[in-house]
Amino acid sequence: MLKLKVSKLKVTRVDLWTTHVMFFTGSLQHKPVFVKLYRDNNKNQREARILQHINIMDCRSPLLCIMQDGSSPHGYFVIAEQIKATPLAQLLDKISFNLCLSLLKQFILILDDFNRMGVVHCDITPNNILVNDTAQITIIDFEYAVCHHSQTYCDLRFETKKILQSLGGDYSATGLVWDDATSFSKIINNILKHNKFPEGELNQIVEQLNILESKIGRNQYKY
Ligand SMILES: Nc1ncnc2c1ncn2[C@@H]1O[C@H](COP(=O)(O)OP(=O)(O)O)[C@@H](O)[C@H]1O
Ligand SMILES: [Mg+2]
Repeated sequence: MLKLKVSKLKVTRVDLWTTHVMFFTGSLQHKPVFVKLYRDNNKNQREARILQHINIMDCRSPLLCIMQDGSSPHGYFVIAEQIKATPLAQLLDKISFNLCLSLLKQFILILDDFNRMGVVHCDITPNNILVNDTAQITIIDFEYAVCHHSQTYCDLRFETKKILQSLGGDYSATGLVWDDATSFSKIINNILKHNKFPEGELNQIVEQLNILESKIGRNQYKY
């Protein structure tokens, strides 16, 4: 890892039983970074490749920014900017009206960007949405993302189909279907279930939710 020039490396989570991945924080060129180290060198390069592809495209969306990736004697690593934020999963039952409205507006912009870039994230969950102090979100974890505009990233590996199914992909007559707009709308509906907003505030939220839900079906991935 020294060769990576990442200093102050500190393990934050080890998940060897399930995903065979280790997480570190560190510092690269004086910037705080977050390192994901996969033990399998071949299997897990997809996230780095697709993030590089997305980062290169003109993108206004708050998506994770990758800095470096490659093989090492310890496994395959991805170095990304370290985001000082909390997963939305930890905030779900204490969301203010302003935060809910802000999330909705950001989700809508992201869906428009995904649509323009032909990207379907395929794993939009409250754990993969980080929220910072000023309510700005960052979408992370592009391990299962597809990109319709790129030959290389329009298909998923066969084995990821099963994982995606377990993540909640709908099984229809045409096969598995992923639609990020559906996932974002499920998250907001869940927030509405757990947080009671006065009627005036609720109307404003429902107005934005309708805009978000009008985007369902526009940009899907079908297996
Ligand atoms: N760039 C980052 N900066 C800060 N925290 C991060 C970053 N990437 C991931 N994390 C933290 O690690 C957790 C797991 O990361 P994720 O990429 O979603 O891996 P997994 O595939 O295990 O879900 C996230 O929920 C978040 O708390
Ligand atoms: Mg995740």
